[in-house]
Amino acid sequence: MVKASVLGASGGIGQPLSLLLATSPLVDELSLYDVVNTPGVGADLSHINGTAKITAYLPENGAGLEKALTGCDIVVIPAGIPRKPGMTRDDLFKINAGIVRDLVTGVAKFCPKAFVLVISNPVNSTVPIAAEILKQHNVFDATRLFGVTSLDVVRASTFVADVVGGDRTKYRVPVVGGHSGETIVPLLSQITPSVDIPADKLDALVNRIQFGGDEVVKAKDGTGSATLSMAYAGFRFAQALLKAAKGETGIVEPTYVYLPGVEGGKEIQEIVGGLEFFAVPVELGPSGAVKATNPLPSATDYEKKLLNTAYEGLKGNISKGVEFIAAQN
Ligand code: NAI
Repeated sequence: MVKASVLGASGGIGQPLSLLLATSPLVDELSLYDVVNTPGVGADLSHINGTAKITAYLPENGAGLEKALTGCDIVVIPAGIPRKPGMTRDDLFKINAGIVRDLVTGVAKFCPKAFVLVISNPVNSTVPIAAEILKQHNVFDATRLFGVTSLDVVRASTFVADVVGGDRTKYRVPVVGGHSGETIVPLLSQITPSVDIPADKLDALVNRIQFGGDEVVKAKDGTGSATLSMAYAGFRFAQALLKAAKGETGIVEPTYVYLPGVEGGKEIQEIVGGLEFFAVPVELGPSGAVKATNPLPSATDYEKKLLNTAYEGLKGNISKGVEFIAAQN
């Protein structure tokens, strides 16, 4: 029996993500939690003749979160406010930091062994917040905490195909670093199947992958950021984890993890200037993150420059998350 929960289930990402999870044969129970509208979303999804049982909760002074999370194997968190035009992901920190803190406190209390997938931005800081909370409750296991950076990977495959042609579904691009602007580093020299990006197209392609989210924010004109492509990407990552948990081997997905706690992570930490959190392609298995792969030594000089910029940005983002929790004690 696999129980999954979506926290922030009534939102722009939460609803389509819940739809995808509700129709997945890998999920037996799906619990929806939000501060608004879950009864309606739950009633709607419960009419689908899928295998998952749907349950839905509002806060009920804390009891709702407890019921949603108890017995969960995987918790996906897209709760929080999205960007409007002109905002960076860091601008969301003020509100979303507290939301992630409170929801992950619930995870620590009610389902401490669950896989936790953080979508709420700024991911570069909200994942360190989640780690600090889990540490405070003595239940932190780095192999089970993931910052979801799959949308960058999905976008990279699409945008690469837009430049060089071919089947968009086939390109696998290792995207490393973090999940905001210049901290997103696509290693285009390591795409499989390998492709040659024309030199005069490289800067624009990298920029589009780093700032692709802005295209959606601008097009939505004040009504939000990526929701449908994010739901697709979040589901893709959740599904990869659930398949690996069931014993499927050879599954590797880029994700933002706590390096010292994942096999192979310490070696990467030395290269990235001691950063504790970093996205790299991670091999997934029954207990979550089995091994971090290290694509950095093969980076080109061009990519090394991008990486150096990313390290600087990430340093500040990570400390901001850690200090937010330290300041509350
Ligand atoms: P939205 O505003 O449509 O939905 C957010 C939902 O969270 C709402 O239903 C709201 O009621 C709920 N919520 C707020 N506080 C809550 C709490 N304490 N407990 C439970 N639910 C709560 O926003 P959208 O578009 O779904 O985006 C959600 C988050 O995902 C944003 O922070 C956004 O920046 C982020 N995001 C992350 C991406 C990534 O690649 N990791 C990509 C796109 C968005």
